[in-house]
Amino acid sequence: MTDRKRPEDLRSHRWLGVSDLRSFGHRSRLRQVGYDTTDWAGKPVIGIINTWSDINPCHTHLRIRAEEVKRGVLQAGGFPVELPAMSLAEVMVKPTTMLYRNFLAMETEELLRSHPIDGAVLLGGCDKTTPGLVMGAISMGLPAIYVPAGPMLRGNWQGKALGSGSDVWKYWDEKRAGNITEADWDEIENGIARSYGTCMTMGTAATMMAIAEAMGLTLPGASSIPAADSNHPRMAIAAGRRIVDMVWEDLTIEKVLDHAAFENAIKVHMAMGGSTNAIIHVVAMAKRAGVQITLADFDRISRTVPVIANVRPSGKYLMEDFYYAGGLRALMGELSDLLDLKCMTVTGRTMGENIAGAKVHLPDVIHPMSDPISSEPATGVLYGNLAPRGAIIKPSAVEKRLLKHRGPALAFDDYNHMAAMIERDDLDVTPDHVLVLKNSGPKGGPGMPEWGMMPIPTKLVKLGVRDMLRVSDARMSGTSYGACVLHVSPESYIGGPLAFVQTGDPIEVDVAARSINLAIPDEEFARRKAAWVPPPPRYERGYGAMFSAHIGQADEGCDFDFLSGHIPVPEPEIH
Ligand code: FES
Repeated sequence: MTDRKRPEDLRSHRWLGVSDLRSFGHRSRLRQVGYDTTDWAGKPVIGIINTWSDINPCHTHLRIRAEEVKRGVLQAGGFPVELPAMSLAEVMVKPTTMLYRNFLAMETEELLRSHPIDGAVLLGGCDKTTPGLVMGAISMGLPAIYVPAGPMLRGNWQGKALGSGSDVWKYWDEKRAGNITEADWDEIENGIARSYGTCMTMGTAATMMAIAEAMGLTLPGASSIPAADSNHPRMAIAAGRRIVDMVWEDLTIEKVLDHAAFENAIKVHMAMGGSTNAIIHVVAMAKRAGVQITLADFDRISRTVPVIANVRPSGKYLMEDFYYAGGLRALMGELSDLLDLKCMTVTGRTMGENIAGAKVHLPDVIHPMSDPISSEPATGVLYGNLAPRGAIIKPSAVEKRLLKHRGPALAFDDYNHMAAMIERDDLDVTPDHVLVLKNSGPKGGPGMPEWGMMPIPTKLVKLGVRDMLRVSDARMSGTSYGACVLHVSPESYIGGPLAFVQTGDPIEVDVAARSINLAIPDEEFARRKAAWVPPPPRYERGYGAMFSAHIGQADEGCDFDFLSGHIPVPEPEIH
């Protein structure tokens, strides 16, 4: 263990512990709030970065969780201060929260840097909040602990469990096919989100919360606790106590996040059948930490780690069941032969110590490694002339007949074009067609929206078709499923090969061979490339203009070029 800090070593000492003109201002203004010397003298100042807002239903409870974290901080002799940050409600923010993940990362980093903070508690959970908070905390480099918001309770409709997202898509198709009524649909709307907390399928939120735990950034088991379970506030209080000791121990985030921690996270991602979005976020977090992780690492690991969490959309159950089955500790226990158990975690103990004794209580929810829930892996990285820098597919959520497929493209120039055509009864489309959506990537979307699970054309839905091959430079929700090739890099908006696809062109995908190709003659490919005219940036002013100018491609993690990397930023001068 590292040497313990002394009070005069604390970062906040420069603001509060010295005797000069500026520190007079800092202390007198704390007194203005009602604090006294006893509140801060010689104590670590803990910044609680809270992504609560009135409009984020996944974070409704974070307002009270922040108070519970404060209770823990006070119990352990720290001085808690809450710092609100952008809430990023996945279903509310348009065009997409992905446009703002880096905004939250910048906000987190600068909130911590500019204030007298010694350690951070990160409160989030809804999709982009986890990577945004963690990326910012990595770049700031203080001791930090993550308190995941936790999943909401299972949905319920007429006695059937409803899963966030997955069952929306499923019953929307049933409604379009005429199999359920408007009244049914209304009841589903009333029953699908029954408590505060994040989506409770293995969407991006559940995946990223688990990944944060697998990287060692949470208390053991924290990511699986349902938001409405009384274990959740107890976890938050314990995190508040723990961060104070982390400051004294100088257990900074870089001492937790090494290459092995990221490899553990990817293995957990695969075993969970996690969201494809996590690939972008893990690459981005690793780059912030100065760790080299590429798409090839995901493909390599996916071949050795089977999906064992029987949770939708790859499986049958929901996150509440996963918790009762033993949660992430139990899943990591199953995986333990593949994990690096020596990784340090925020507990000050190793991952091996954190998961020791974990047991699976419901073996149909967390399967043994010898009996995976799918013969297909959670991730495949495809390459070819259509995706020279890679594209992603989730084989475990694909109809098997589409894992190797050749069909004619039905190409849409953008989302509006697709939306206008897809419902038409006269659309010239068969189940063998490959739906192609362009201009939906990081710059083109803009922000790479979750449009990748394009709806099956209505005329085919009525015939019973529920899956088709779809190709785009968009992302898809982690709650989505189907034969969707996503994150095609480079994107079409900057002249990636997807831009040159025309309706009728044959497209070949072979997941086993990890290939995706546009089967047209090379000369024709070159002719279309030469004729391509770059479109103007999506934004000319404001944050969007900065986004357009600096956003990286999907295979690079979609970080801003000036934020990724490990270049030190000076501490603020205090004068
Ligand atoms: Fe917040 Fe799904 S909408 S986690």
